Amino acid sequence: MPLAITSVIETPRLKLRLVRETDLTDLMAVNGDDLVTRHLPYATWQSMADAQAWFERMQRLQAPGTAQQCVVIRKEDHRVIGSCLLFRYEEGSARAELGYVLGRAHWGQGLMREALSGLIAHAFSDLALRRLEAEVNPANHASVKLLERLGFVREGLLRKRWVAKGEAYDVEIFGLLKGELRLNSTPSPMG
Ligand SMILES: CC(C)(COP(=O)(O)OP(=O)(O)OC[C@H]1O[C@@H](n2cnc3c(N)ncnc32)[C@H](O)[C@@H]1OP(=O)(O)O)[C@@H](O)C(=O)NCCC(=O)NCCS
Repeated sequence: MPLAITSVIETPRLKLRLVRETDLTDLMAVNGDDLVTRHLPYATWQSMADAQAWFERMQRLQAPGTAQQCVVIRKEDHRVIGSCLLFRYEEGSARAELGYVLGRAHWGQGLMREALSGLIAHAFSDLALRRLEAEVNPANHASVKLLERLGFVREGLLRKRWVAKGEAYDVEIFGLLKGELRLNSTPSPMG
């Protein structure tokens, strides 16, 4: 069975649904920012042509049923403020990888934690996944913290795995098994 998100995922402040071409203007504001893409394996979008090329790439990735690209919509004003993705779906192992990005203006409000909580809960229930993975540059402190708060376990370091923006870098692999998602973890006093 192909990976298929067929409904809108709702959290208190957000909605997640599959990306549409009409989302690209909002997504340009997210991915057109060097600080946002600093740790991502693609170049900062320079124009709507880059946005369109990304959309077409996502459509091709989704076609065989091994990926689903969602946008993160703020309920308050219906703006698309980020995106999150399930990809590299392996049906036999009921496993997929997670990717995510949020516009800089929205960082630090627990919004991606809320979005991923909704997506992951959906992945483990409706999509019947049993394991999720994420690869993160260890220098990406916000992303590491986010995954740890959700219950992901740091499983190992893959040395010089990626080359992006002219540089080879290590990645840490994080894994989360069904039943391990932490929905309402309170930050510790040490942060
Ligand atoms: C990573 C990212 C999605 C986090 O989104 P966010 O909505 O700001 O994250 P949250 O507010 O849910 O915060 C998650 C945790 O990280 C912490 N955090 C946020 N920014 C941080 C930073 N720069 N350094 C250290 N910790 C940070 C938060 O305090 C929070 O921890 P807490 O629960 O102890 O308070 C966002 O920074 C982003 O889009 N970055 C660029 C794209 C990217 O790197 N994607 C991931 C690729 S692997």
